Amino acid sequence: MFAQNSHMHHLLITNIGSLCGIEKEGQQKPRLAGKEMSQFAVVENAWLYIEDDKIHSFGRMSDMDFIPAENVYDAEGRTVLPAWVDSHTHLVFAASREQEFVDRIKGLSYEEIARRGGGILNSARRLNDMSEEELYEVSLERLHRVMAQGTGAIEIKSGYGLSTYSELKMLRVIRRLKENSPIPIQASFLAAHAFPPEYLQDHEGYLKLIIDEMLPQVADEGLADYMDVFCEKGFFSIEETERLLEAGWKYGLKPKIHANQLHYSGGVQVGVKHRAVSVDHLECIGNEEIEALKGSNTIPTLLPGAAFFLGIQYQPARKLIDADLPVCLATDYNPGSCPSGNVPLLLTIACTQLKMTPEEAINAVTLNGAAALEMSEELGSIATGKKANLIITRKIPSYAYIPYDFGNNPVERMVVNGVFV
Ligand code: NIG
Ligand code: FE
Repeated sequence: MFAQNSHMHHLLITNIGSLCGIEKEGQQKPRLAGKEMSQFAVVENAWLYIEDDKIHSFGRMSDMDFIPAENVYDAEGRTVLPAWVDSHTHLVFAASREQEFVDRIKGLSYEEIARRGGGILNSARRLNDMSEEELYEVSLERLHRVMAQGTGAIEIKSGYGLSTYSELKMLRVIRRLKENSPIPIQASFLAAHAFPPEYLQDHEGYLKLIIDEMLPQVADEGLADYMDVFCEKGFFSIEETERLLEAGWKYGLKPKIHANQLHYSGGVQVGVKHRAVSVDHLECIGNEEIEALKGSNTIPTLLPGAAFFLGIQYQPARKLIDADLPVCLATDYNPGSCPSGNVPLLLTIACTQLKMTPEEAINAVTLNGAAALEMSEELGSIATGKKANLIITRKIPSYAYIPYDFGNNPVERMVVNGVFV
């Protein structure tokens, strides 16, 4: 079973207390919807064998007939899970915004702060003032921090540039992160995050700038995988969103959009209409939105960390799951609405506030997270042939302990591309 080729890298992990999130050969799913989200197969007392960067095989310790001498790691009863796939973040940013946090405590709303030139515009000013080198350094440090909390693949957006120069600067930083980090990174182009001050009265001008000037350069340099728009009252309207998504498609950028965070804006419907890979946020979602999602391939991605931090209503995860939809969870890591990329904490919020079970929540940020980045063939579960991006936890009694033990990091070690990092 362990035919060894000496040119290959091998790692055998033995004595795994619980090997979680497994999919048997021939039974792999691209995503889990509705009741399927409760499926979470576990092998107790397991081994896992990695060849190069991929999962080769796994099974019960009692059935393991041969132990190769080299590269054996005794997990001593620890839990192993697929690494988190965080499909929505704004991890590249220049500076924190705790003053706005204090202003919100004192009664200002997120939208009021934005109207006063705070919020996204505040972040854009700070990003403009920062060199590409420094922006890379601070972002790399954040990336390392979330990897230490179990993130094994991530999406990162532009959207704090809001000018051709600074949007490209952000996207180049994301590209450098892609080139230098071991985990897969997908980039989304989010120039349509807010209207910069000089275009507040000239929406047409900013749309033209995005469509005629930024998009061709972004595409030319291959800097983005997805097209994002903050579709929201006071930000980008349905009509503006449609034009932007059509323009993105012309360059092969599929939509992944911000929708229905603050209002019933029609954002979900417009995302579905334009074949978005996912529609993200969804605090404000009702039957019409759910009907639109049914029968589409668009994944509803919930960002409850933002609802938690802004103190607004949570997403109706149960309604979506009951409607047989594939719910995805992501952090939304950004300096305004969710200054945390901590997935274990996200799991706690999903369980306690959205009433997702630990199985549903973990599936939502592993296999369905991978689906929301079109990577579920290679990531998101323990399956033969998938990339060996794994979490090895501290010694914990069960996987449900991860959301239960809130505020603490369950991760002891990470395996990325088959090696310990
Ligand atoms: O996903 N809602 C729009 N964008 C971000 C927040 C951006 C910010 O406040 O800096 C979000 O919540
Ligand atoms: Fe976001």
